[in-house]
Amino acid sequence: MVAVQSAAPDKKMLRSAIVIGATSGIGSELADILVSQGYRVGITGRRVNLLRDKVNTMPDRYVSQYMDVSDPKDCAWALERLWSRFSHVDVVIFCAGTGDINLDLDFSKEQQTIRTNISGFTFVADWVFRAFQKQGIGHLVAITSVAALRGNRQAPAYNASKAYQANYIEGLQQKAMNEKLNIRITDIRPGFVDTAMAKGEGKFWVMPVKKAALQVFQAIESKKRVAYVTRRWWLIGVLLRALPKSIYLRLP
Ligand SMILES: NC(=O)c1ccc[n+]([C@@H]2O[C@H](COP(=O)([O-])OP(=O)(O)OC[C@H]3O[C@@H](n4cnc5c(N)ncnc54)[C@H](OP(=O)(O)O)[C@@H]3O)[C@@H](O)[C@H]2O)c1
Repeated sequence: MVAVQSAAPDKKMLRSAIVIGATSGIGSELADILVSQGYRVGITGRRVNLLRDKVNTMPDRYVSQYMDVSDPKDCAWALERLWSRFSHVDVVIFCAGTGDINLDLDFSKEQQTIRTNISGFTFVADWVFRAFQKQGIGHLVAITSVAALRGNRQAPAYNASKAYQANYIEGLQQKAMNEKLNIRITDIRPGFVDTAMAKGEGKFWVMPVKKAALQVFQAIESKKRVAYVTRRWWLIGVLLRALPKSIYLRLP
């Protein structure tokens, strides 16, 4: 179990974070942890009632902004507006995501996953990267998934979108390194977490969302490049990558 100390920070010392997709699940828990650890936190999502409820718990520490990442115009406007409410942003965590079991290969389901996890993710990651370039420093974090490592027959677009995110992040990491930018980028790969997103059959090691969010927070604080959550999912990652295609394709 990860220990998170209670903080009574000096207001002048507050660090700032933005959690994209903080209305439920990992993003919501992570936002609460960040606040408990002395951050002022910008929270986004489409369910404004949930954003409002969170702000009401600590109005001086949460700043909320409606944002639909699948709509680039809306997203640009929302990011500008939210960013303008901070003098400095230390870390942005992209938690927004969607995915459906799609055994019939219904394109409308795949399209929503592509719009959110690929187009929306790319728009936000690029926007934030440029903002950090202007600011001179920053830390961009994306919650990808162990699903990034192999394809999946039940939710092909979801796994493919996570592979895209992980690969894109590596590109940004290389860009930051090559251009000697003071921008850190972290790829967090959870296994199954007990949220609305954990769909499909054959789930195992399903972890409570609080535990997952605590480990995400720890990985952010230690500025890891890649982190598996919980840590034992690293082993699954190794096994998944090592499995020959001829065996992988036969898995039930
Ligand atoms: N749960 C798991 O087993 C698991 C495993 C590996 C990785 N992950 C990843 O973890 C991330 C968080 O998921 P979760 O498990 O915490 O599920 P969740 O409770 O369903 O949270 C998803 C979040 O994404 C936001 N979101 C979805 N579509 C959006 C859109 N178009 N615009 C803006 N925000 C949007 C939702 O907010 P609104 O609906 O209010 O917009 C919500 O805050 C996802 O990227 C997911 O792929 C989850």
